[in-house]
Amino acid sequence: MATMLQPEMRADPFDMSRAALYRDDLWHAPFRELRANSPVHRVEHSDYGPYWSIAGYHPIIEVESLPDIYSSQAGGITIADFLAYDDTVEMPMFIAMDRPKHTGQRRTVAPAFTPSEMVRMSDDIRHRTGEILDTLPWGEEFDWVDRVSIELTTQMLAILFDFPWQDRRKLTFWSDWAGDIELIKDGNKRAERLGHMYECGAYFQNLWNQKVGQPPAPDLISMMVHSDAMREMDHLEFLGNLILLIVGGNDTTRNTMTGLVYGLDKFPDSRSKLEADPGLISNAVQEAIRWQTPLAHMRRTATRDVQLMGQNIAAGDKLILWYLSANRDESVFEDADRIIVDRPNARRHLAFGHGIHRCVGARLAELQIATLLAEMAKRRMRVNVLREPERVAQCFVHGYKKLPVTISKY
Ligand code: HEM
Repeated sequence: MATMLQPEMRADPFDMSRAALYRDDLWHAPFRELRANSPVHRVEHSDYGPYWSIAGYHPIIEVESLPDIYSSQAGGITIADFLAYDDTVEMPMFIAMDRPKHTGQRRTVAPAFTPSEMVRMSDDIRHRTGEILDTLPWGEEFDWVDRVSIELTTQMLAILFDFPWQDRRKLTFWSDWAGDIELIKDGNKRAERLGHMYECGAYFQNLWNQKVGQPPAPDLISMMVHSDAMREMDHLEFLGNLILLIVGGNDTTRNTMTGLVYGLDKFPDSRSKLEADPGLISNAVQEAIRWQTPLAHMRRTATRDVQLMGQNIAAGDKLILWYLSANRDESVFEDADRIIVDRPNARRHLAFGHGIHRCVGARLAELQIATLLAEMAKRRMRVNVLREPERVAQCFVHGYKKLPVTISKY
């Protein structure tokens, strides 16, 4: 059973799992204090039970470099212990597996993300991105999240999976249910989430059946069907890994595409610099990913007693790696709260994680975001933020529900 805390005991100002900190954008100051005074910090009481909060850049690297000590499998990858409830099931996914199983399954999908695959996809991505930008109304208010970020990400995933075009928004729907860890607090919602995950599994099962016995094609499902590792993957693992890919590639890229225009609007000097020199786009992509950090954390579980920066971590302890905080670590990134499009070390960000689980889709995400910036530059399109965004209220997915904007020429 997961430890559920009584509301009157919820007092720890450094419990960074509280949804309101993200809904209201109030996480900056407490993380700054944690980094300065207690980068490896024990939280005894939270809605998600006790955990270690890892807020510094360097201790996160240390944890991620020792995957046999700090397991992705023992307790899953988020702060929410979904498996502690009898009324839910987590699909097995390689992001939540340890070696050697992780290695074999990762190998099955990695060929879809090689540099040559990215070159193959780049024309299609450029074309789709341009088409979406050309539907936008100049000078009129619209929601960037819905019209651009969701539309672009779902189109890309639909291409990657050869997914039925008319149903592509289902990918966003399933991804939102899968990634919302707040749902763990409500039994009815947990059951509803499970229902949607089964529906998603059944849908992909059907797509899978259509690819079996067919000649190999360049989409991800066909690649998985024809891979050697597939022989070692059971049915649930196959579905789990497909869900991992749609969730992994969905709200992450989507929220970076929103964070990007929101952040550039906040720092107009940086925006002007980028507008004047499109050669800065590839660095600006890294900077936007750092600044947004669309997954605020990943979780590890200690497999044995171990010391981390002088703290005694016990076997079975939960560690939360706050990428969101590490990417604002002033000891690594000068003036870290600002977007600086020509920041020399933007690439050192930890938003993709580090080590054996580092994001397998990183190249695709970078390509999509760079293409968006390049197509905006081609049209001399500037995005003006009209009001503060509506933010996602939870500590795992760090993102936006709505961002009202207009577009104008520069
Ligand atoms: C793993 C972030 C885009 C698929 C991860 C991890 C993070 C992450 C933090 C875990 C790393 C760790 O534990 O060390 C992001 C961000 C993205 C993005 C910030 C966009 C800006 C994508 C895309 C895809 C994808 C486009 C695929 C379509 C995956 C998969 C894993 C993963 C399959 C598991 C890797 C493993 O366990 O070996 N990602 N991701 N991600 N991501 Fe991404």
